[in-house]
Amino acid sequence: MDVLDRLRLDVPVVQAGMSGRVAGGALAGAVAATGGLGTIGMLPPDHLRSAISRVRDEAPGRSVAVNLLMPFARRGHVRACLETDADIVVLAFGGNAALVRQLHAAGIFVMVMAGTERQVRTAVDWGADALIAQGRESGGHLMGSVAALDFLPQARAVAADRPVFLAGGIATAADTRTALAAGAAGVVAGTRFLLTEESGAHREYQRRVLAARETVETTLFGLGWPARHRVVPNAATRRWCGSDGTARRWVRALNTGSGVFGRFAPEGAEAVLLRGQRPGWPLFGPAAPLVGMPDSWTDRAALYAGESALRITEVVSAKRAVAELAGS
Ligand SMILES: Cc1cc2nc3c(=O)[nH]c(=O)nc-3n(C[C@H](O)[C@H](O)[C@H](O)COP(=O)(O)O)c2cc1C
Repeated sequence: MDVLDRLRLDVPVVQAGMSGRVAGGALAGAVAATGGLGTIGMLPPDHLRSAISRVRDEAPGRSVAVNLLMPFARRGHVRACLETDADIVVLAFGGNAALVRQLHAAGIFVMVMAGTERQVRTAVDWGADALIAQGRESGGHLMGSVAALDFLPQARAVAADRPVFLAGGIATAADTRTALAAGAAGVVAGTRFLLTEESGAHREYQRRVLAARETVETTLFGLGWPARHRVVPNAATRRWCGSDGTARRWVRALNTGSGVFGRFAPEGAEAVLLRGQRPGWPLFGPAAPLVGMPDSWTDRAALYAGESALRITEVVSAKRAVAELAGS
């Protein structure tokens, strides 16, 4: 069966998993109602259940996808997916065969994000149903280390008959057409959906992304999770990073050493953690600025965005974003 039929999609457009405070039930529901795939990002398990119900209410008959960000996923998140009959789970930054088996036993379709051939091979060994090939131009945390269109053929060769979706640099219908022509089963867009009315991103964060003239790859906002990430520069990166985004060596060392502590950070504590951050003090966790936070926090928090930001000119409704990406 065609994967779009299997996932009950009208268009080959997937809204990427982003923090559940950015991509919660409102955004995922609006995308699903338009015939794309909406993905709910990480939230505490009870909030995850409410977000899943919201998508079901707003997009009856459509699939609900949940992103499990593995460094932070706990048994409660998995239980929430199983007990609410989530249709799709997207694993990122980790996973294992036992988890895939558990999800399959509940009839859940499992997608795994990968940025290298080795990660694709591992996901195939786990039993993944589909892959997301992430390119280095992507916004947010990076598994990708080469451009998405360069990685896609490598990923497809290893994935064999499994569908491979392309993530990174998707902002227009022309990008979607190019990805599909290169063999992608569909496209996954994060930054385009960050810049929608239904996103939970702070409006000043959205304005900064729209106004951006560059993005940088850094590890600056790595306290508790020292993985590479792509952001729009702000006062914090200008203070602590070189022009290529590389954080000062001792800041990097501090973040790398903090990795294990991120696992114990309380979920949903973005505001508490950000309150303590200052552009002049190099301790930056991964939280992004959200609606309701002070404007000034956009200079002390990660402004995650991909290179596609440089080609996006306005905040639009999720419905319009899906239509524009699908070319309909
Ligand atoms: C604001 C933001 C937050 C993100 N958070 C997550 C996340 O929580 N989990 C995840 O798997 N990927 C996350 N990503 C990466 C996306 O899954 C996707 O790979 C990426 O957005 C694709 O590139 P694009 O931004 O150019 O569309 C995030 C991306 C952005 C822009």
